[in-house]
Amino acid sequence: MEKLIIFDTTLRDGEQSPGASLTIREKVAVAKQLEKLGVDVIEAGFPIASEGDFQAVKKVAQTVQEPAVCGLARANTKDIDRCWEAVKYANNPRIHTFIATSKVHREAKLRKNKDEILKITEEAVKRAKSYTDNVEFSPEDAARTNLDYMCDVVQVAIEAGASTVNIPDTVGYSNPEEFGQRIKYILDNVPGAEDIIISVHCHNDLGNAVANSLAAVKNGARQVEGCINGIGERAGNASLEEIIMNIETRKEYYNLETNITTEEIYKTSRLVSTLTGLLVQRNKAIVGENAFAHEAGIHQHGVLSDKNTYEIMTPEKVGWKGRNLVIGKHSGKHAVTAVLEDEGFELSKDEIKQITKKVKDLADKQKKVEPEEVVAIAREITHQLTEEEKYIDLREMTVTCGLNMTPVASLKLRVDGEEVMGSGFGDGPVDAVSNAIWDILGQSFQLEDFHLDAITGGTNALANVSIKLLDENNNLFSARAVNEDVVKASAYAIIKGVNKAYNYKKKIHPQDTNTEV
Ligand code: KIV
Ligand code: ZN
Repeated sequence: MEKLIIFDTTLRDGEQSPGASLTIREKVAVAKQLEKLGVDVIEAGFPIASEGDFQAVKKVAQTVQEPAVCGLARANTKDIDRCWEAVKYANNPRIHTFIATSKVHREAKLRKNKDEILKITEEAVKRAKSYTDNVEFSPEDAARTNLDYMCDVVQVAIEAGASTVNIPDTVGYSNPEEFGQRIKYILDNVPGAEDIIISVHCHNDLGNAVANSLAAVKNGARQVEGCINGIGERAGNASLEEIIMNIETRKEYYNLETNITTEEIYKTSRLVSTLTGLLVQRNKAIVGENAFAHEAGIHQHGVLSDKNTYEIMTPEKVGWKGRNLVIGKHSGKHAVTAVLEDEGFELSKDEIKQITKKVKDLADKQKKVEPEEVVAIAREITHQLTEEEKYIDLREMTVTCGLNMTPVASLKLRVDGEEVMGSGFGDGPVDAVSNAIWDILGQSFQLEDFHLDAITGGTNALANVSIKLLDENNNLFSARAVNEDVVKASAYAIIKGVNKAYNYKKKIHPQDTNTEV
C-alpha cells in the first residue's frame, strides 16, 4: 500500500488561532505527543516571526527524534537563513518556503508581476536547497490562482529542487470536486510532478477543509497538512484526526496507509485543547465528547445487540476512554494521575503531589471535583513561576464592591523583596485590583484581553482567568490563573503577566512574549 504523509501544523498554523499562543514548554509537550501519535512532519513555527517562535522551533528540533521538523519561511534570504538556524538541529530538518501566487495577492499584497514571482520562487527554493534536500514550497492562495500559472510556479519550484510542493487553499474557497481536479491537473501536466510529493493544505472557511483534502488525496496528493482539533487561522485548518480516521476507516476506498497510532488521537486532542484553551465542540467528529455517545433508545438497543449497527469505528480505536472517575476528598494521587495521563500530561512526582493536595483542598469544600477542574489545577501548577521568576508576589488583598458604590481594592505586594502597599478604584473589582497593582508599581500595563471561564458551571465552580498585558514597548504577555474566587484568580493572572514582563526584560524567559517582529 502507498503511504500518505501526515504533516502537522498545529504548532504553526494552529497556533495562529486567535488566543491560542503557547509557550516553548507547551510547544515541546505537544511535539512529544505528536511524535507518539506518529505524524511524519511537525511544522513547529515561523522562526523569523519572533524570538519566541525561533526558540520553540529550535527546541522542538532538538527534542523529537522520528518526525521531520519543519519551519516556515517567506521566500526571501533572511527568512530562509533564520529558519535553517532553527531547524538544523533536527534529525530530519525541513524548510518550508512560500509566496502568494493568486492575482489578488500578487497585485494587492506583493505588488509583483507573474515573472517576478517565478524568479523569487526559484531563488527561494535554491537558497533553501543549499541547506537541505528536504525543501517544501507552497504557492500561497493556490486554489484561487489561475491553473496554468500555478502549474508554471510549481514547475519552477520542482526544477529548483523542491522535494514537496504544497497546494494551499489559503482562504478555504474551493470545493472537493474542483480541488481534486486541481491536484490531478498538476500531476498530469507538470513535468516531474510525479517524482516529488504533492501536498495539500486546506482551510475551513466554508467547512470543506477535510473533504477538499480527501478529494486531493484521492487524486494523487501524498501529503496532507492539518491541525489537531482543526484549529487554525479564522475557521481553522483541516482537522488532522478526521483525515486520519477517514483513511483508516475507509481503507478499501483510499488504499493508503499512514504511520499513525490512532489510539493516541484522543490524548493528543485533549492536550492541544488544554494547552491552547480552545475547547473542542461536544459533537466534533472523532474527538468530541458526544462522538461515541448514543442517546436515542433505538440506537442504544442496536449498539447493545451489535456495535456495528451504529458504530463505524470503536472509541478504543481513537484512544477514547469514558470519564467515569469520581474524584473526592478520599481520592489519591492515582486517581488524579489517571485523569491527567488521559489528558496527555507528563508530570514530575513533585507536581503530582502539589496537584493532589490542591484537588483534595477543593474536594473538602465542594465534595466532588470534576476532571475539568483537575486539569485546570494541573495546568496552573505546571505553569507556575519559580521563586526567581517572581519579581512581584501577592501578600494581602481586600476588595470592596457593592450596589451604588465605587469598587476599591487595597493590596500588599512583595516587590523585589520588599513589601509595598497600594490601593485603587475601578469600574469593577478586577479593574480596582489592577489599578492597585499599577499604583504599587508606579507603572501601568494595558490589559488587552480578559477572559473568564467557569470551569464546570455552578456558583461554586473554579474560575479560570486568562489575560493579555501590553507593556510600554508593545510586547504582549499572556497569563492564566485558576481559583475558587474570581477576583483572586484575576489578581493572580495579572501578577503572573507582570512577572513575565519583568522576566522578559531581565531575559530570564525571553520566550514568554507574543511580540511580532
Ligand atoms: O494557508 C496557507 O496558505 C499557509 C501557507 C503558508 C502554506 O499556511
Ligand atoms: Zn494555512
